[in-house]
Amino acid sequence: MGIAVSSWQLARQISLAGELGVVSGTAIDSVIARRLQDGDLSGDIRRALAHFPDKAIECEILKRYFSEGGRDETTPYIDLPKLTLKPTKMTADLLVAATFVEVWLAKEGHDGIIGINLLEKIQLAIPAQIFGAILAGVDYILMGAGIPAQIPKLIDELSQGNPVSMRVDIADTQDKYTITFDPHAVLGTTPPFARPRFLAIVSSHALVAYLNRDSETKPDGYVIENHMAGGHNAPPRAKNSIDDRGESIYTELDTPNIEKIRSLGSPFWLAGGYGTPEKIEEAIKLGAQGVQVGSLFALAKESGFTDEIRTQLRRSLTLNTLQIMTDAAASPTGFPFKVAQLPHTLSGENLFAERTKICDLGYLRQPFKRPTGGIGYRCPGEPDASFEFKNGDLDASAGSKCLCNALMADIGLGQVRPDGRVELPLVTIGSDLDGPSRMAKSHPFGWDALEAIKFLRQK
Ligand SMILES: Cc1cc2nc3c(=O)[nH]c(=O)nc-3n(C[C@H](O)[C@H](O)[C@H](O)COP(=O)(O)O)c2cc1C
Repeated sequence: MGIAVSSWQLARQISLAGELGVVSGTAIDSVIARRLQDGDLSGDIRRALAHFPDKAIECEILKRYFSEGGRDETTPYIDLPKLTLKPTKMTADLLVAATFVEVWLAKEGHDGIIGINLLEKIQLAIPAQIFGAILAGVDYILMGAGIPAQIPKLIDELSQGNPVSMRVDIADTQDKYTITFDPHAVLGTTPPFARPRFLAIVSSHALVAYLNRDSETKPDGYVIENHMAGGHNAPPRAKNSIDDRGESIYTELDTPNIEKIRSLGSPFWLAGGYGTPEKIEEAIKLGAQGVQVGSLFALAKESGFTDEIRTQLRRSLTLNTLQIMTDAAASPTGFPFKVAQLPHTLSGENLFAERTKICDLGYLRQPFKRPTGGIGYRCPGEPDASFEFKNGDLDASAGSKCLCNALMADIGLGQVRPDGRVELPLVTIGSDLDGPSRMAKSHPFGWDALEAIKFLRQK
């Protein structure tokens, strides 16, 4: 669960309990750089960085971002260079090292299994992040929000320490573009590493059949995620599937055909409203290996959400007032995005309208071909005038929110603006609240990951 809601602390506890704990890789370079600027008071990041195999990279990161005792709260965080088709060495090094740190901390001192979740949509970060995770001994890589057909081969090559190239999507052109990543440019020599398994997160049997067709694209298994899940959801299949409140409407066309998926022979896990003991039993009966649970753990004490957000969510669960909207427009990716309707967050139209648009993190920027040649980058989250100047479609992107800044605010790392305001959060959570509501009743002061697992294992 991004950004850093699936924190290393949460993933570690889940792994210690014998399950697969998954950290989020999304924007992890910004997360690590900001935690260092906040003084890394626990010393965890510096301890992990000390195990990174290249001392020069460790020193450079500390020199640029570490602030002894932490930055003054009114000082803005330092901007990182944005992802591009040809990143600087520092950008790539930081992506590798930050991903390494988060996985290393989740795996520290035990033999349990740890995965990392990456978004296919953030293509420019993928090769460097896979390599960083492999360096830290990650056991599973999970990827959704796109069609991850190139990933199995990338993992094969990067596990061997080989340079890779990856095709990337560029808007406004039919030309083909690739990015490259060379592990030797980061580390000098690279021995072969253990190859992690790859689970593709998809929501239809057609995609399973497509990816399984070729050994180069076939993952080791699937997470079949339906539209109840928190975070991004697959767009509805039916036409005109947005109601007048701007909510995506799903029909039976969107229900994954589990029988067909089972017949394709790959192991699979079910996700989206499977976070109760009864639903786990149902999933196993349907032939799944198990389930992937998000929302119940997003509310656990170890998750990256600020205590304020966790408490707000738990209170409204207890009062039965928590409303979740599948917002068709909120995410610059164009995918529907689950939004918890909470006060003091960007789910409120007024607060959203008051915010000055800015795109300074840029993870969801779409590369496009300029009419004059060359590649530009645009995001519906940036100011309308510059988005339009870059041939962005303002009508199609109305209501699009800056997820990068809002999700950083969810974990207490919101940017400070020149007028002293701090970026506001936007909270995502799944629309099936059965498990979280039952836990809120039995644990009115909150729960931790182990208590959530105990609940899920009840017979
Ligand atoms: C706060 C939150 C953030 C999430 N972020 C991501 C993400 O970055 N990438 C992803 O693949 N899934 C993400 N998800 C989906 C979860 O990984 C999981 O599949 C889903 O939550 C399962 O459904 P449930 O919420 O009903 O348990 C997120 C879910 C939540 C609740």
